Amino acid sequence: MKLSLRLSTALENACPQQPLWDICCDHGLLGIQALRSQNFPQVHFVDQVPHLISKLQEKIKLKIKEASKELPAFFYSTPAESLQVELTGNVCILGIGAQKIEIFLRAWEDAGLLQADRLILGPHKDEQWFLDVVIPNLQNYELQKQVAVNERGRDRLLFVLNRRP
Ligand SMILES: C[S@@+](CC[C@H](N)C(=O)[O-])C[C@H]1O[C@@H](n2cnc3c(N)ncnc32)[C@H](O)[C@@H]1O
Repeated sequence: MKLSLRLSTALENACPQQPLWDICCDHGLLGIQALRSQNFPQVHFVDQVPHLISKLQEKIKLKIKEASKELPAFFYSTPAESLQVELTGNVCILGIGAQKIEIFLRAWEDAGLLQADRLILGPHKDEQWFLDVVIPNLQNYELQKQVAVNERGRDRLLFVLNRRP
């Protein structure tokens, strides 16, 4: 399976040896590649659509059979803003609107759940508003870099943020 340049760029910017969260994972392409790489001790898949998560679980179970060993994969069929677990390591949120990403981050911050060292954020629209308004309001994080990736003729921005020391 070949990852798109956008998803492979996101993965390249994740901190290895730390958990990775694929939020709004859809078919889980990013998380599956993270599992395959064996660079991340846990991979967490989150999507609000139950059948996407159950299909993904099945697909990954098959892989477990093939590899005859446990894969450190965890599944959450819930709206991301309702997660009730601590998010550590790398939190990747890609391919949804900027407003939704803001809602997730605010909900997790308010609940004290956002403990990630790195955020990799790729809103699919309103990127400039995200950069100008949302990122400066993330008091615990600072922007390390932004990367433009061309996907089907359109530049998509990825924002990489680190937790402030
Ligand atoms: C376009 S796909 C993005 C897939 C992948 N992250 C990417 O960038 O290619 C958007 C996914 O977000 C999920 N989604 C939308 N709102 C959500 C929410 N509030 N919580 C969890 N998942 C959500 C949808 O079910 C869908 O699978």
